[in-house]
Amino acid sequence: MSRVVIITGAGSGIGQAAAVRFASMGDWVVAADINGVNASATIAMCSGSNHLAITCDVGDEQAVNAMVNQVIAHYGTVDVLVNNTGILLSKPLHETSFAEWNRVITVNLSSIYLCSHAVIPHMLSNGRGSIINLASPHSFATTTNIAAYAASKGGVVSLTRQMGMDYGRKGIRTNCIVPGAIDTPMLRSDIAHGAGVEASLAGWAKAQPIGRVGQPDDIAKVITWLASDDAGFVLGAAIHADGGMLAQLTPPND
Ligand SMILES: NC(=O)c1ccc[n+]([C@@H]2O[C@H](COP(=O)([O-])OP(=O)(O)OC[C@H]3O[C@@H](n4cnc5c(N)ncnc54)[C@H](O)[C@@H]3O)[C@@H](O)[C@H]2O)c1
Repeated sequence: MSRVVIITGAGSGIGQAAAVRFASMGDWVVAADINGVNASATIAMCSGSNHLAITCDVGDEQAVNAMVNQVIAHYGTVDVLVNNTGILLSKPLHETSFAEWNRVITVNLSSIYLCSHAVIPHMLSNGRGSIINLASPHSFATTTNIAAYAASKGGVVSLTRQMGMDYGRKGIRTNCIVPGAIDTPMLRSDIAHGAGVEASLAGWAKAQPIGRVGQPDDIAKVITWLASDDAGFVLGAAIHADGGMLAQLTPPND
């Protein structure tokens, strides 16, 4: 039977790959993105029918509630929520304005609260559901000058654990994924300055013990697995799909 799967930030990168993969499994996909044109383009890439593209700023409570109401009006239920949206800000804390700080925390962390707050009552009445959040290596370790992003992603792991505890006994499994460097528009725009995109991608490939940069579908496979019954005993976890990035200790002269 087709599941109803809401994916935020589905207009690009990892979210888009997850939409295509869920659709290929026969599920009904809701691509929710602040960029409605890109959300529609994702749906156009999906096999099957009965999918929805919805323009939605996941940092806006009214927009999120309207999006979930539209999903319920159309399908009558929701089975899977992928809180995938994220924005990157590479700045040291003292150069980060309060507005910039709030926007990163809102889009990366509070959006998980907003979407989950709207969806969980429906999952509770079904007695089942799967929520998958996108964390980051910055949830556990970090580089310089990425304060707001690192803080938001640390919060994603903590919130995932909490949601796992609060709703696991009620049939809702919440987990998060920690992707390594994945070749998406987000990564490419972050590395566009400096050595150049191709050189930076080569650098990331070398830095990850698996010897390559990840592709969006590497993470989409983990997302669909976490949403499946095969992951039925996985709860409150942070699944590292990072090509070994966080497993590695770099000796000083390496
Ligand atoms: N690409 C990587 O290397 C990498 C590594 C670790 C974690 N992640 C995380 O994975 C997730 C997906 O990243 P990606 O690389 O695919 O990013 P991406 O920039 O390619 O896609 C993000 C999507 O989110 C949408 N979006 C941005 N703000 C929004 C808002 N307020 N409301 C709704 N949609 C909004 C964008 O329009 C875009 O379609 C993010 O949470 C990111 O932090 C990515």
